[in-house]
Amino acid sequence: MKPVRKAIFPVGGLGTRFLPATKALPKEMLPVVDKPLIEYAVEEARAAGVEEFIFVTGRGKSAIEDHFDNHQELERTLTERGKETELGLINGSKLQPGQIAYVRQMSPLGLGHAVWCARNLIGDEPFAVLLADDLIKSDKPTLVEMVEVYEEHGGNVVSLMEVPHEHTSRYGVVTPGAMKGELVEIEGLVEKPDPADAPSNLAIVGRYILQPQVMTYLGEGKSGAGNEIQLTDSMLELVGQSPFHGLRLSGRRFDCGNKVGFLEAGIAFGLDRPDMGAELRDRISALLSE
Ligand code: G1P
Repeated sequence: MKPVRKAIFPVGGLGTRFLPATKALPKEMLPVVDKPLIEYAVEEARAAGVEEFIFVTGRGKSAIEDHFDNHQELERTLTERGKETELGLINGSKLQPGQIAYVRQMSPLGLGHAVWCARNLIGDEPFAVLLADDLIKSDKPTLVEMVEVYEEHGGNVVSLMEVPHEHTSRYGVVTPGAMKGELVEIEGLVEKPDPADAPSNLAIVGRYILQPQVMTYLGEGKSGAGNEIQLTDSMLELVGQSPFHGLRLSGRRFDCGNKVGFLEAGIAFGLDRPDMGAELRDRISALLSE
């Protein structure tokens, strides 16, 4: 079984749900406390053993490239001033030369299309996909848990969470088969079903481990829900070909593509920080009691 060494980060979206902030700033660069969303996703992939980081970008996303680059002037200044802590903070976003690649999604045709744009960099290896908008707070990084499932069962693994039945039309939803603890065999998948047609209320969180065969189906370019090329539709083709499991999320997922979800994430991550949690708690209490 080949290890999961590569990860795709689709970051080409226009971020229309976050205007005006995203007029010139990629939404993936919005910070939760003090770290951009994309850096959380990269850290998670790194913890899971990923060695090659593939960003599927679009127009106006150069700030992401700059963020993962060396910033020699800043580093020199921080070194001269003995700012070790700050140096440590910027080193967290550094990857080795050649570990990171960018490919353009030239038209916004959907998540499936974005993933397909990376096909030549993926080749014949299994790969992970991480959607930075789905920020997860958990003791153990979600992709680390998923890689453990992959190492035991092979095939494909997605992260799952229960959602209110009336929200199924916002997500990819699975038809669950046998369940064992947090592990769910997947018998089917459908993108954004009406609650009346949804096979369950188990929704896909933006974390995937997929076999490279999915690229062949994506290449057919069929439009699905919302008239977009959906990753979910091509994943369905893999069911029955190779093992397909869902792993229920052990942490909490924040929808950072949504303004309230993003604010909630900032508060949750801030409250958890030893350097500011107590003060933030006091200030939130004060605000709430006004
Ligand atoms: C995408 C996927 C969907 C998944 C969701 C998780 O949808 O297509 O299957 O449930 O991410 O956030 P999007 O949020 O891009 O519409």
